[in-house]
Amino acid sequence: MRQTCRLAASTLEYIEEFIKPGVSTEDLNKICHDYIISHNAYPSPLNYHGFPKSICTSLNEVICHGIPSKKDVLKEGDILNIDVTTYLNSFHGDTNKTFIIGEIPEEIQKLIDVTYQCMREGIKQVRPGGHIGDIGAVIEEIAGDHGYGVVEEYCGHGIGREFHEEPQVVHVGDKGTGPEMKPGMTFTIEPMINLGKRHCKLLKDGWTVVTKDKKPSAQFEHTILVTETDLGHDILTLRKDESLEFS
Ligand code: MF3
Ligand code: CO
Ligand code: CO
Repeated sequence: MRQTCRLAASTLEYIEEFIKPGVSTEDLNKICHDYIISHNAYPSPLNYHGFPKSICTSLNEVICHGIPSKKDVLKEGDILNIDVTTYLNSFHGDTNKTFIIGEIPEEIQKLIDVTYQCMREGIKQVRPGGHIGDIGAVIEEIAGDHGYGVVEEYCGHGIGREFHEEPQVVHVGDKGTGPEMKPGMTFTIEPMINLGKRHCKLLKDGWTVVTKDKKPSAQFEHTILVTETDLGHDILTLRKDESLEFS
């Protein structure tokens, strides 16, 4: 799990310099695909339940599962989530980040910052004896304080030998509810936070999920290991541009 998660994280580190106006999401897909393959791994999304590409690219009002396309060319003011999942030596590692292209409105930067905060505060709840519901409870509270919508139809998940395993990690809920966290468990926390209302719509391609009100949506995702350390967890997909501590 540590090896596959480090590769997923390093793919996001690697792709950053290529994200600029004029580049298509298909270009970014090809770069990530080649990077993952060259590290003797497989991009888990490719052919997963028929998904046609190697990463998910979710632009602006796309909440998740956007399909890379030559037609989606990045421009100044866009926000783009890149979701990378790698399969290395029989294990999956899953992580995503919302990138900004050039200058973006202050209101959208704040959405991104609060979404990152939601993920980090959710991660802080992870420790042996805690409950999965503790995670959604803090995320729902922070997002609610800002008037944002929390997507409920898609959620975090257990991960390991399979891409999506039990338990489901919903990003709303009540403290003390849901499965108990135990050392050795690995799961993702990946809140999708909407500037407007929480409601979403699935496009006819069968994958792309967009906000119903067409306002932007942001997301961050890490794969977490429950540990017996003082912190209670380890962020397996932590990148070099992130700090171990968050406050
Ligand atoms: N990586 C996504 C997640 O965080 C799942 C993508 S499934 C795909 O769970 F088929 F769209 F790739
Ligand atoms: Co995931
Ligand atoms: Co993911």
